[in-house]
Amino acid sequence: MKILGIESSCDECSVSWLEYTDSRLTTRSLSTFSQIELHRPFGGVVPEVAARNHVETILPMLADALREAGSPGVPDAIAVTNRPGLVGALLVGVCTAKALALAWGSKLVPVHHLDGHLASLFIEQEIPADAFPMVALVVSGGHTHLYLLKEHPARVSQGALRGTLLGGSRDDAAGEAFDKTAKLLGFPYPGGHHIDRAARGARADRFVLPRPQSTQLGEFEFSFSGLKTAAMQLIRKLESHHELEKAKPDLCASIQEAILDQLLSKTFRAVTVYGAKSIGIVGGVSANSRLRERLAQEASRPGGVPYFFPHLRYCTDNAAMIAAAGAFRLAEDGLLPHSPEALMLTALPHGDVERPR
Ligand code: KG4
Ligand code: ZN
Repeated sequence: MKILGIESSCDECSVSWLEYTDSRLTTRSLSTFSQIELHRPFGGVVPEVAARNHVETILPMLADALREAGSPGVPDAIAVTNRPGLVGALLVGVCTAKALALAWGSKLVPVHHLDGHLASLFIEQEIPADAFPMVALVVSGGHTHLYLLKEHPARVSQGALRGTLLGGSRDDAAGEAFDKTAKLLGFPYPGGHHIDRAARGARADRFVLPRPQSTQLGEFEFSFSGLKTAAMQLIRKLESHHELEKAKPDLCASIQEAILDQLLSKTFRAVTVYGAKSIGIVGGVSANSRLRERLAQEASRPGGVPYFFPHLRYCTDNAAMIAAAGAFRLAEDGLLPHSPEALMLTALPHGDVERPR
């Protein structure tokens, strides 16, 4: 099966050609334009700037992706992120996908952005059936969600990816906690990988930062707003004593460790409670080097469970993961290009309402 994926929900404009054969997902091409430089002066993503830039870049990305795939003909389906995200940005991808589906007669598969992140685990990586149930953590700039995936998505009807939602963040997402504290430290947007880099080899126990207690939150809920406030007060204090520059690496390591402690304590607790056989971590924050190191340490302990990360190129937003989620779903269905549902397909800013079960 050949799938063209399109992602334009936020500040990455991405098109990918992916093949799904014998339960293997292989990327034939991936062309992504990152708008980070455009948004940097504003310290965050400006929705109208994002949407306008997607209009300019989506066709060049499409042309690049088709060229890189070696002019592969007509895809069986076009998978496009239609929720959640910035509505103007999403609409650029959705309208492009509808036009291509009509022109090529390919099926159209609307994809939830988080299904895309979860599907990224399975691209060019074999995850055995006995790795399920899996506790899956989505950690990105906009989401911190913990799921229980009961089975490999290739074996589930409708290619269900998100499984059961165990919990999420009450306030900021994990990536947002990295980005906001990085901004206070003077790093450019997005700051996650700057903190990651600055923290290497530094002391994570020098500054004491809050880890919310499970008694204050639901068992699988997260909260990062207290950490942000505490980091802000600490930064102001160090600044007033002209000690900030010298303390920066240790401060980055301490912030990073506080974020990871919270993410991992809930994830490991979910493994115990649900008897999970493995852990999967996806989304931009899954690129974090200390997170990967800590998972490796935990897995090597007696009784440690195996863990899976997407390949680095599939951690941050990209269209290959959207095509992969589309491939799992298309094994069951997909909208016919001329059907009323396909013509009515639109962008939804908030996605589905999800509540932990
Ligand atoms: O998944 P993604 O590209 O976009 C969303 O769907 O939100 O994630 C972007 C997030 C940003 O918050 C960025 O700071 C964070 O991922 N990020 C990292 C690292 N690389 C990207 N956070 C920590 N360490 C990293 N190495
Ligand atoms: Zn994302």
